[in-house]
Amino acid sequence: MIFASWLFTTRDTFFRKGTMRCALRRSPSNVMTAHENKTALPLVHLGITRPEELSALFADLRGSFDADCASAHDESSWKQFRDAWLGRKSGVLTQITDNWLKPATLELKRAVGASLNELRAHVESQIEARRAAIESGSEKTALASERIDLSLPGVIRPIGSQHLIRQVFQEIEDIFFSIGFSVVEGPEIETPYYNFEALNIPEFHPVRDDMDTFYLDLPKGAKTPLLLRTHTSPMQIRTMEKQKPPVRVIVPGKVYRRDNPDATHSFAFHQIEGLAVDTDITFCDFTGTIEYFVKQFFGPSVKTRFRPSYFPFTEPSVEFDVSCPFCGGTGTASGGGTCSKCKGAAWIELFGAGMVDPAVYGFVNYDAKKVSGFAFGIGIDRLAMLKYGIDDIQVFFQNDVRFLRQFP
Ligand code: DAH
Repeated sequence: MIFASWLFTTRDTFFRKGTMRCALRRSPSNVMTAHENKTALPLVHLGITRPEELSALFADLRGSFDADCASAHDESSWKQFRDAWLGRKSGVLTQITDNWLKPATLELKRAVGASLNELRAHVESQIEARRAAIESGSEKTALASERIDLSLPGVIRPIGSQHLIRQVFQEIEDIFFSIGFSVVEGPEIETPYYNFEALNIPEFHPVRDDMDTFYLDLPKGAKTPLLLRTHTSPMQIRTMEKQKPPVRVIVPGKVYRRDNPDATHSFAFHQIEGLAVDTDITFCDFTGTIEYFVKQFFGPSVKTRFRPSYFPFTEPSVEFDVSCPFCGGTGTASGGGTCSKCKGAAWIELFGAGMVDPAVYGFVNYDAKKVSGFAFGIGIDRLAMLKYGIDDIQVFFQNDVRFLRQFP
């Protein structure tokens, strides 16, 4: 206990107020001695009548104070200690003033006052010094525990990079931005109307077989079936529904088909759809635009060609090829032998395209007699594989950092 001495009166007051009184009184360590009761009694009761007798009394008090002071180790014990000695109502110094000084005889009064002042100065300065020591001690502890070691190596947070597919999207988008196209995006969950019918692919059309697709399990009574879009072409319809000509958009996005995974097939892959419709768009505008794109993407020395093809939503439909950028369109590898990229064909098939079929305009309330346009659908994974020499489409989806890091 800090307040082993001199505090009888102080505690007594406190105990009378508090419920702890009994418990503390019963504890043997809290039993007060007659000695501790000294400040509660006038000096005459202590048998002191002459000034010379005061010095021993005050020295004793000072000793007790010093002992108490030394045992105040933290803020809360320091506060109790301070109040016990300086408390206005019942601190030891108040007790001395009330019980020793005030009733003292004239002969004693001056000496008691002087000793009390001396004691007060000591008490006040020591209490303040103790507070400062406790504060700086706890500051030191806090500083020690919160210390930042600047010599430790920092936490390295690796910064990610764009996936190669995203990079290729960006590259293609930039090329089309430069000739006035803008980007639109659409839902990956589509209705058969947008994915097929409005693109001139009625139910039971054989083209649907190629796109045999993922339908969503819907609650009974759902208004329309839903499916994962098999191509980005539905956005041709959604865009034209919303916007009158001129239209010049590209549509990057994910598409889904029920393909078994192998080196060139995946059930999810990426396309960029393109659509340009206006009042006087010709086949020349169409091939010129595609040639511009292909040269920008593979380099100025490549050639393009197109072959007849078929898509229900374009007429005529074509398939664009590029002269093999790897063997310079010769079919022969630089070190001799067949070029592994084009397999000796000198040309590489790129993507499907065509002039928008007038039947499609009927679905979006465009006047087929007044407008014309072209559309194309570029398979991004295939283009990325070609350009960056990747021989398995699956690596795009595996997220193996050894692969990803090659394309920072
Ligand atoms: N949607 C077609 C597919 O996924 C690709 C395509 C071909 C898109 C011709 C077009 C186009 O816009 O004109 O196989």
